[in-house]
Amino acid sequence: MHYLLWTFGILAAALIGLSFVWGWASRRWTLPCPSVLAWTVDGSIADAVAGTQITLERMDLQPGMTIVEIGPGPGRLLVPAAERILPGGKAIGVELQQGMIDKFRKKLSRHDPGNIELIHADATNPVLTRESADLVYLCTVLGEIPDRAAALANCYDTLKHGGRLAITEIRGDPHYQSRAKVESLTRDAGFEPHGFAGNWWRYTATFHKP
Ligand SMILES: C[S@@+](CC[C@H](N)C(=O)[O-])C[C@H]1O[C@@H](n2cnc3c(N)ncnc32)[C@H](O)[C@@H]1O
Repeated sequence: MHYLLWTFGILAAALIGLSFVWGWASRRWTLPCPSVLAWTVDGSIADAVAGTQITLERMDLQPGMTIVEIGPGPGRLLVPAAERILPGGKAIGVELQQGMIDKFRKKLSRHDPGNIELIHADATNPVLTRESADLVYLCTVLGEIPDRAAALANCYDTLKHGGRLAITEIRGDPHYQSRAKVESLTRDAGFEPHGFAGNWWRYTATFHKP
């Protein structure tokens, strides 16, 4: 029993330490969540821990919208989001890693709402049509992007006037961004506050383009 407790304690300390080191290193270099860890952000356990349905509700998705997810990973949010904007809506994912896109496409081969476009690109590059989207959202992604200002500037350009930016952050993510940090970065990018929902554990902050 004593031995088990020690093992559990050492493992927990190692995980927390790794999380801090990873978060620190990510502020200096591009270190996205590797695609071999895609399982940690997909499936029923990830849905429960990350609160997939709650996050979708908070984004107020409506039929006919054009939406963009920056860093969709294997598609935990973008697939159900795409379904919520039918009929007539279009969903675009801008994903840095080919490995994540491959996993996303595999998921689409099993269940495809038919309105998703995946773009393999770095969100700090201007790859999207200007003033084309009603909603751009990021979930546990902003902290993975070293040049957050450039990424948010692109989000701003992609949104229509009056369009919304939704940023979801979850504690435990090594790249977690505080509410104050997110508000400061988005203000610098030209956004105005729109709404906030959540708690210390998981929140979605919403902004709009004036
Ligand atoms: C922790 S995963 C989150 C996936 C998904 N948003 C979710 O909540 O289930 C972060 C994702 O962001 C992607 N990413 C990181 N930096 C990016 C960038 N500069 N441009 C586009 N995607 C990026 C990573 O490749 C990874 O798939």
